[in-house]
Amino acid sequence: MSKTFHVTTFGCQMNEHDSERMKGMLESLGYTETAEQQDAGLILFNTCSIREKADSRFISYLQLAASYKRRDPEIVIGVGGCWAQSVKEDVFRRFPFVDVAFGPGQVHKLAEFLTSESLTAQGFFEFEGFTGHLPEKRARSFQSWVQISVGCNMKCSYCIVPSTRGRQVDRPLDELVAEVRAQVAEGVREVTLLGQNVNAYGREMRAGAGRGSFAQLLHELDAIDGLDRIRYTSPHPQDMKEDVVLAHAELDSVCPHMHLPLQSGSSRILKAMRRTYNRERFLDRVALIREHNPDIALTTDVIVGFPGETEEDFAETLEVCEAVGFDGAFTFIYSPRRETEAAELVADFVGHEVSVERMDRLVEVIQRRAGEQARRFVGRTLDVLVEGSSRTDAARLRGRIGHGKVVNFSGLAEPGEIVPVAITSATSQTLAGEMSLLARALT
Ligand code: 5AD
Ligand code: SF4
Repeated sequence: MSKTFHVTTFGCQMNEHDSERMKGMLESLGYTETAEQQDAGLILFNTCSIREKADSRFISYLQLAASYKRRDPEIVIGVGGCWAQSVKEDVFRRFPFVDVAFGPGQVHKLAEFLTSESLTAQGFFEFEGFTGHLPEKRARSFQSWVQISVGCNMKCSYCIVPSTRGRQVDRPLDELVAEVRAQVAEGVREVTLLGQNVNAYGREMRAGAGRGSFAQLLHELDAIDGLDRIRYTSPHPQDMKEDVVLAHAELDSVCPHMHLPLQSGSSRILKAMRRTYNRERFLDRVALIREHNPDIALTTDVIVGFPGETEEDFAETLEVCEAVGFDGAFTFIYSPRRETEAAELVADFVGHEVSVERMDRLVEVIQRRAGEQARRFVGRTLDVLVEGSSRTDAARLRGRIGHGKVVNFSGLAEPGEIVPVAITSATSQTLAGEMSLLARALT
């Protein structure tokens, strides 16, 4: 087998992060990355099972990899991540051409497999283990993702995560601080902390040196010289307490952006989802967050067509989205996932056409409100972390303001620089602007 690899990543940022670890580990084993899947000796997939659509897209990619392997039987095919975890050994029965499969956080097992004598089918599906200590390859040298926990102790009735990623296990606080400090020494300016329920961090840890709350973690990271931006995803509204809200107001490097998943605006549906908060409590959290951080950007996740969702329930979701005025949202049509409580409610499933029609109405409200919110940035000069050239016009640059919004702008700067940009226009999705040379000269 040639020592080259290609990784295709599906799903969430956690998977993106695991894939970076995977690449770093493979490079430390002497493998090199290829641009095209068909040129690689080791074809890997890091899979997701959040939505049905991700499954089917992944399976068509997998079939393509199988066709390469028919041409060259030396090729090794590996499948990792949540989907692999959810089907376990079954993967080898359904796709006999797969050589190795492993669950999320089991990237080190891939190393074990590759360095073992026999390359016959092996599966690794344990919940233990972090990818944290493996070398990682960063897509951009100035941005990093740090996984602070794996798993989730909530029991949201639609969600497959508790069964694929197990109970929440947190990494010690001192270890996280040391890791970020080392990254900053290598040039990282922005870190995104990852976990399924980040603000439950520290709650179930045993007393000792590494113990601390999520707010404490934010404080300790903020104290690191040279770290300009701290982001995190996702918190749970139930656990959004004043200490974290205040951290946004008090700590310079904690970005003025919070992704706070609503899921539904109907208290009845929230209860069926086992979200542990109701509509009033969510609105109350939003009020508290804005009381301390009037300019903060709020984004969210919403599911439409949860089993039993009536027109009245959906109208309440629209009302909450209208009232809050999110800066953006990820919207999902409910899709039943195996081994979840909601998937049993077959009799209450909302038809596809009804869900699609509700989705259209939801997206209209979300985009209109996001567009209105984005106008508050026009006329202001904001710091932008440059990420590269604009995707639509290579002569312009692209970056993000602290609020998380993408800005396309004219100017001269290198990726990784933070530059002042005068915002000239806004849509619901992106901002446009010009680099402010005067402001730059003064900084
Ligand atoms: N169907 C639709 N959306 C889902 N999500 C999670 N599980 C499902 C499901 N079964 C959405 C939630 C979550 C986001 C990451 O994915 O909104 O916050
Ligand atoms: Fe899933 Fe709920 Fe945990 Fe998020 S909080 S990972 S939606 S169970």
